[in-house]
Amino acid sequence: MRVAIYPGSFDPITHGHVDIIRRGLTIFDKVVVAVAVNLRKTPLFSDAERVELLRETFAAEPRVEIDVFQGLLVEYARRRGVPTVLRGLRAVSDFEYEFQMASMNRRLSQDVDYLFMMTSEDQYYVSSTLIREVAANGGSVAGLVPPGVEARLYERFGRPPPA
Ligand code: PNS
Repeated sequence: MRVAIYPGSFDPITHGHVDIIRRGLTIFDKVVVAVAVNLRKTPLFSDAERVELLRETFAAEPRVEIDVFQGLLVEYARRRGVPTVLRGLRAVSDFEYEFQMASMNRRLSQDVDYLFMMTSEDQYYVSSTLIREVAANGGSVAGLVPPGVEARLYERFGRPPPA
């Protein structure tokens, strides 16, 4: 069975992530979405909330597993026995960060390799950071995140959904 790990912060999950996971499922039999917990940065949504939002989003997709990990990604991949990490690339700006991470991980372990997919053209500008900022200021994030996530964002910021 071909399995990939799709790691990230997912604070919160966006349609950009959903796009990569769905396209990953055309290549892999199963995608393990691995939520990094205990991040150095303080997330908007707790570890449990980020997992819950992902589980809601992929409730109807048995080939997507939601898991959490802490510590090094390569150690997690080794423990799981999964040699492939899937990541999305939106723009050139992502490249440097991803290249650094992939190179460091390669140094840490030769057992894990990366597969990068270019984000779809209608999602390339979407990031969790921008989604949080727009929602915090009352802007519409409809269509950019799963509906359950949209509702939770406005609730979290104490704002009514924009008309
Ligand atoms: O969604 P993000 O924030 O871009 O995801 C980054 C993530 C969680 C994949 C990355 O920070 C990570 O793998 N963290 C685990 C710790 C680790 O292995 N760090 C060394 C990477 S060089």
